[in-house]
Amino acid sequence: MSENNAILKIGEEELSIPIITGSENEHALDISKLRGSTGYVTLDVGFKNTGSTKSAITYLDGEQGILRHRGYSIEDLASKASYLEVTYLLINGKLPNQAELDTFDHDIRMHTLVNTDMENIFHSFPTGSHPMGQLMCLVSSLSAFYPGSLNTHPTPERQLKTITRLLAKMPTICAMIYKKKWGHPLVYPNNSLDYVSNFLNMTFGQVTMNYETDPVVADAMNKLLILHADHEQNCSASTVRLVGSSHANLYSSIAAGIAALWGPLHGGANQQVIEMLEKIKADGGNVQKFIDKAKDKNDTFRLMGFGHRVYKNFDPRARIIKKSCDEVLAKLGIHDPILDIAKELEEAALNDPYFAERKLYPNVDFYSGIIYRALGFPTEMFTVLFALGRLPGWMAQWKEMRTEGQPIGRPRQIYTGEPARDFIPMKMRS
Ligand code: ACO
Repeated sequence: MSENNAILKIGEEELSIPIITGSENEHALDISKLRGSTGYVTLDVGFKNTGSTKSAITYLDGEQGILRHRGYSIEDLASKASYLEVTYLLINGKLPNQAELDTFDHDIRMHTLVNTDMENIFHSFPTGSHPMGQLMCLVSSLSAFYPGSLNTHPTPERQLKTITRLLAKMPTICAMIYKKKWGHPLVYPNNSLDYVSNFLNMTFGQVTMNYETDPVVADAMNKLLILHADHEQNCSASTVRLVGSSHANLYSSIAAGIAALWGPLHGGANQQVIEMLEKIKADGGNVQKFIDKAKDKNDTFRLMGFGHRVYKNFDPRARIIKKSCDEVLAKLGIHDPILDIAKELEEAALNDPYFAERKLYPNVDFYSGIIYRALGFPTEMFTVLFALGRLPGWMAQWKEMRTEGQPIGRPRQIYTGEPARDFIPMKMRS
């Protein structure tokens, strides 16, 4: 191995593998020529060691618990920026100056309404359909309302228009889903309000009375959205990139990301955490019983909100959220017994060798659900809120992938099925 190359030896054959170094001194072996030169592929189920792309959007060091977007720490962004500033940063690569932010904000406010025909799609969902299924369909349906988005080689202006539209309509769609859940009439966007306040107004406001945004609630929401805004090549972002790599339109690519996020091992964990805590409470609050269940390899139960593919020390977002959770509950004067169980569970797990040995710590979803609950959101909406926050990250990943003209994503496999065999006619089959 030299500074810039590693040598791979297969039998007598040697192949020089270039070493790629990232701007934070991370190293990768570039095996893109491996199959062409040797006939071998690499096998890495679940992509635990595979870099799928180079990217300039987000830096994450799971051992040190570092998360930065475009070089800015998540701690700074969560405490000093607005969600729209972070959105601009992710998508455009720089913090906006005041004029740029004003234009961005204005353009978004001009696109907040959705076509009223979208309400027809809503009416066809059975009562009780999961909000994430609705969100996925509604976002995908935007491609029908805006056929210009189907252009497979959009100009930068057209691309920006589609991105702006989706950013603007996402809070409206999420609020519509909330209203549908309760059977309440829709509250239309009020473009005199900022992004977060408008969303809260459409969600918690009533057509029959004015809604005053509580600054504590707006602040908490702003912070939660920022904390979810991007997380490099996670399951949903990778899905968005993979789908987009076939030149599928932005709306469909994001709908695919929403589908990936829904799973309980990814964004769906926030709903599962609260359901788990409620189950522990209903069961009498015996935290140790559930710790034991999580450790039992014959039991499928896992501690939801614990563990992370990349963070092996702490999740910096979980630290910020935990602090914010205490503040929000105190400011809103809420005492939630679920929070007590969460704290007891966290302490018990952190002191248990099973979790310590496997480096399992609370992740972002462990505390976010408690804040969402305190803000008044029903459990089934939690992953929708995650999707709302993650939207700019998905779009930044999609834009980067398309702008750089990356090839279609198409992994290889190792076939383990039957070798070639003769077809057996029906009458001869046993
Ligand atoms: N509870 C109990 N045991 C766990 C947990 C958990 N939450 N998470 C991991 N483990 C154990 C596994 O059983 C395994 O043990 P073993 O080595 O004895 O077989 C070991 O820890 C490693 O776990 P893997 O599943 O191999 O780790 P992986 O990186 O594939 O999975 C994941 C990461 C999916 C996040 C996992 O920790 C998990 O299922 N957590 C609960 C769900 C969750 O909170 N998801 C949200 C993640 S954050 C996000 O996506 C926004």
